[in-house]
Amino acid sequence: MTGARRDGAMLKKDGGGQYSKGSRIVASVVAGVIAGFIFAFFYPYGFFVPSLPVNHVISETNSQVIFSSCESSERVNILKAEFVSASERNAELRKQVRRLKEKLRLAEQGKDSAQKRVLVLGEQHKAGPFGTVKGLQTNPTVVPDESVNPTLAKILDQVAVNRELIVALANSNVKEELEIWFTSIKRVGIPNYIVVALDDEIASFCQSNDVPVYNRDNSKGDEDKGIESIAKTGGNHAVSGLKFRFLREFLQLGYSVLLSDVDIVYLQNPFEYLYRDSDVESMTDGHNNLTAYGYNDVFDEPKMGWARYAHTMRMWVYNSGCFYLRPTIPSIELLDRVTARLAHENAWDQAVFNEELFFPSHPGYDGLHASKRTMDYFLFMNSKVLFKTVRKDSKLSQIKPVIVHVNYHPDKLVRMKAVVDYYVNGKQDALTPFPDGSE
Ligand SMILES: *[C@@H]1O[C@H](CO)[C@@H](O)[C@H](O)[C@H]1NC(C)=O
Repeated sequence: MTGARRDGAMLKKDGGGQYSKGSRIVASVVAGVIAGFIFAFFYPYGFFVPSLPVNHVISETNSQVIFSSCESSERVNILKAEFVSASERNAELRKQVRRLKEKLRLAEQGKDSAQKRVLVLGEQHKAGPFGTVKGLQTNPTVVPDESVNPTLAKILDQVAVNRELIVALANSNVKEELEIWFTSIKRVGIPNYIVVALDDEIASFCQSNDVPVYNRDNSKGDEDKGIESIAKTGGNHAVSGLKFRFLREFLQLGYSVLLSDVDIVYLQNPFEYLYRDSDVESMTDGHNNLTAYGYNDVFDEPKMGWARYAHTMRMWVYNSGCFYLRPTIPSIELLDRVTARLAHENAWDQAVFNEELFFPSHPGYDGLHASKRTMDYFLFMNSKVLFKTVRKDSKLSQIKPVIVHVNYHPDKLVRMKAVVDYYVNGKQDALTPFPDGSE
C-alpha cells in the first residue's frame, strides 16, 4: 500500500497539522478504496496469476475472438494476430474480386469482339422489301503485309496479274507431271503462275525452262525440320498438306491464289472463268449436277414407320487440288485450321479441308464462316467426268474445259498426255484406249 502511504504523506504535508486525526483516517480509507478500484480494474485476476498459454478461439465463421484467460500483453498479441488474420482474409477477398473482375472483363471482351465482327461488316441496315435482301458473300480483303516475306513479295509483284496467280508446289517426285503442267500453261499464254520448288532440282528445272519459281529451300522461312523432309521426299498426300501452310504468306501479301496440283492440264485461262465472289471457289469431285452441287439424299429406315424417311444433305467433296482463295480473313483462317489439324492428325488433307469448310458450329466447336462457290464441273473438270461421261457424249465432248485434273486415276502421266492430244492436238481417239476407272 505504498501509494496510500504516499497519498497520506502528501495530505499530511499539504494539510499541515491542522487536520484532525479522524479526517486523516477518512482520507486514508477513501484513498485505499480508490486504489482498490484501480487495481481491481487493471488486475482483475490478481498479481500472481501463473503465466498461462494464450488460450483463445477464433471462430472461423464469424471471426469473433473469445478470451478465456490472458494478460494484457497477450491480449495485445491476440489483437495483433487477429489483425494479421483479418488482413489475410482481406487479401484473399481482394484476390477473389480481382478474379471476378477478370472474368467479367473477358466476358465483355468476347461480347466486344463479336460486336467488332458485326462492325467490320458495316453499318446496320433495315431489311429491304421481300426478295431484295442479300447476305454478305464477298468479304473484304486483308491489308497486304509485305513484312511477312519481302522476298516473295518482290517475286509476286513481278509475276501476278491483277494481284492473282496460279500456285503449285512441286518436288522431284512429280517432275514429269510438272513439265506437262507448265507446258500447258505456257501454251494457253497464262503469264501469272509460279512453282513453289520444294527441292533444288525442281528449282533449277523451272529456271532452265523459264518457269517462274520460288525456291523454298533457299529462303529459310521454316525452322521446322519435319516440313523440310516432307517437302523433299514426301509423296502426293504429304506434299499436298504443305500447301495450306505455304499459301498463307501469299494471302497475307494480299494476293488471290489459284492453288493447282501438277496433275492438271490447262486448256484455257482460268482467270476468265472465276466469279471472285467467295472466300473459297473450288473444283469438285462431283460428276453430275447432284453430286457436284448438292442434293437431298433420303435415308430410309423402314422400322420407323411413318417417319421412315430421313432427309440428309449431301454433295461430293471439294477437290483440294484446285481451288481459288481470295485474300480474306476467313480464307486465312481456313488455311490455319487445316494446317493445325494436319500437324496433329494423320489425316488426308482433302478430308480436313472439306470438314473445316462445311461443318457448322455446334456445342464445343466454332465452325468456319467462309463463303464458298463450287466451280462448274464441266469447265474445271475432274478425270471421272471426262472418262466416264464427257468422252462418250457427242455434245459434251465438243466443250473445251478450262482445266482437266487427272485426280481420279493413278496413271496420271499417260492420261495427261492423252488430254493434251485430244483437246490440243485434235486426236479424236486419244481418250479411247483408257478404261473409265483404274484397273
Ligand atoms: C445441270 O445444271 C445446269 C445448270 O446448273 C442445267 O443447265 C442442266 O440442265 C442440269 N442438268 C441436268 C441433267 O439436270
